[in-house]
Amino acid sequence: MYSKTFVSAAAALAMVSGVAAVSCDDPTATIASAADATTVASCDSIEGSVVVDSSSGSQIDFSGSLTKIGGDLIVLNNGGLISLSSTSLESIGGAFQVKNVTLLSTLKFTALSSVGTIDWSSLNALEQLTFGTPGVVSAKEVTIADTFLNTLDGINVHSLDKMDINNNHRLTDFTTELNNLTTLLNINANGPKLSVNMPNLIWAANMTISNVTKFSAQSLESINGSLRFDSNFFDTFSAPNLTEVQTGDLSFVSNANVTNITLPLLEKIGGGFTIANNTAMEDLNGFPKLSMVGGAVKLRGSFSSVELPALDDVRGAFDLSSTGDIKTSCEAFSSKAGSEIQGEYSCTSNNANANNDTDSTGGDSTTDESAAGALQGMSMSWLVSLVSIAGFVVAFL
Ligand SMILES: *[C@@H]1O[C@H](CO)[C@@H](O)[C@H](O)[C@H]1NC(C)=O
Ligand SMILES: *[C@@H]1O[C@H](CO)[C@@H](O)[C@H](O)[C@H]1NC(C)=O
Ligand SMILES: *[C@@H]1O[C@H](CO)[C@@H](O)[C@H](O)[C@H]1NC(C)=O
Ligand SMILES: *[C@@H]1O[C@H](CO)[C@@H](O)[C@H](O)[C@H]1NC(C)=O
Ligand SMILES: *[C@@H]1O[C@H](CO)[C@@H](O)[C@H](O)[C@H]1NC(C)=O
Ligand SMILES: *[C@@H]1O[C@H](CO)[C@@H](O)[C@H](O)[C@H]1NC(C)=O
Ligand SMILES: *[C@@H]1O[C@H](CO)[C@@H](O)[C@H](O)[C@H]1NC(C)=O
Ligand SMILES: *[C@@H]1O[C@H](CO)[C@@H](O)[C@H](O)[C@H]1NC(C)=O
Ligand SMILES: *[C@@H]1O[C@H](CO)[C@@H](O)[C@H](O)[C@H]1NC(C)=O
Ligand SMILES: *[C@@H]1O[C@H](CO)[C@@H](O)[C@H](O)[C@H]1NC(C)=O
Repeated sequence: MYSKTFVSAAAALAMVSGVAAVSCDDPTATIASAADATTVASCDSIEGSVVVDSSSGSQIDFSGSLTKIGGDLIVLNNGGLISLSSTSLESIGGAFQVKNVTLLSTLKFTALSSVGTIDWSSLNALEQLTFGTPGVVSAKEVTIADTFLNTLDGINVHSLDKMDINNNHRLTDFTTELNNLTTLLNINANGPKLSVNMPNLIWAANMTISNVTKFSAQSLESINGSLRFDSNFFDTFSAPNLTEVQTGDLSFVSNANVTNITLPLLEKIGGGFTIANNTAMEDLNGFPKLSMVGGAVKLRGSFSSVELPALDDVRGAFDLSSTGDIKTSCEAFSSKAGSEIQGEYSCTSNNANANNDTDSTGGDSTTDESAAGALQGMSMSWLVSLVSIAGFVVAFL
């Protein structure tokens, strides 16, 4: 109450002095000074958006009564802002967008737990987040690009639509409690020492992981789209619980140091299967249960042996080529050509150019992804109806 009286006095003063004051009801409350931030902080909630103007000065603090912003919180192209904080703000309905704020070194939101989307980029001075514990637990999308962050501690979302973490050159550890992800996960061009740990991830769609030193997803069971590993630095890879890549491609391309790729339970790849230019890998034998590939199989490398003992249904082409001698492996596969392998068949040894072709489009996938998605959605709602009908019948008995 006390603070509200003070604010009205401040607002009156602002009106007298001819300065437009911000108010709690503004569709867009524009913060042009620390005093404007104090005014906004005195609102219990703001239904609209809050925009921090590029002339805001160096310190903006929203701590106070403000717990909720219904719209967005936006800071763009602000070369003067050093500290942005609120110890009271709990939720942002729309985007928490902070872009091209090159001197920002403090981002302190200790009560924030829910945001629509996090969209941060070009925050060249931001070394760490000061968030609460567990921090942000609810968001639909998270994009963090071109920051100086060492870790992403404080972002503890369990379910997401999209996540894109790129060009954070000092990021060395990303450990997340993420359980599932519906549309896209991209991790690319961060620091060369980045270790990615997703111990609770069960299913995800369209994952592309590049330039990481370690990737661990021990619980991962299913991929709905594609799964790609390009130009990573790890020397072994395993996905001990992955049984299927439902509709998209699985590919490992130009992972220079990898010697061992093991997916012991993988049975099905809906799209194409590509392993190319992983020049340190001699034995490709980590796919003991892989039986079905909906697209093309393309295995090119410096192999001395390639074994896919369970493979019996390849809908697309099969192209295996090595810089080394793999005649024994070729003999084993040649009997499948024309029957279990439906597309064009090729298997070559001692090919100096084996590692040059890394195109991993997979091609030839016979699965229509949107149709597959619709079908899944339908079987789920059928299941739900059946369960509720069963419940209904039981209730009447
Ligand atoms: C970034 O913000 C600065 C002001 O701080 C501006 O001069 C510059 O044009 C912006 N860069 C981009 C790419 O928008
Ligand atoms: C996705 O993860 C969330 C959070 O753990 C969980 O509540 C939800 O049931 C999961 N969805 C599916 C379809 O597995
Ligand atoms: C992805 O696959 C999992 C496991 O089959 C399923 O539970 C989930 O609903 C699928 N998600 C989407 C978005 O299709
Ligand atoms: C994966 O990406 C493909 C191609 O961009 C897209 O068609 C598909 O819908 C995505 N899958 C999911 C589950 O979002
Ligand atoms: C990072 O990965 C990309 C592919 O996504 C690749 O073009 C690039 O060369 C890699 N960078 C390093 C330093 O490995
Ligand atoms: C692997 O999957 C099985 C069956 O779904 C589950 O019981 C087990 O805990 C999973 N392992 C890991 C490491 O998550
Ligand atoms: C990859 O292997 C090369 C030698 O084959 C080594 O010099 C390099 O340090 C390794 N890189 C990583 C990230 O382990
Ligand atoms: C490859 O990795 C798997 C799983 O991490 C392991 O069980 C296996 O012994 C490794 N193979 C070799 C030849 O190192
Ligand atoms: C393939 O790569 C090898 C080794 O890097 C190189 O000598 C050769 O010229 C390349 N061939 C083609 C066709 O690009
Ligand atoms: C093969 O991988 C190496 C890194 O080990 C990379 O320098 C080279 O460009 C890759 N070749 C192709 C054709 O992508």
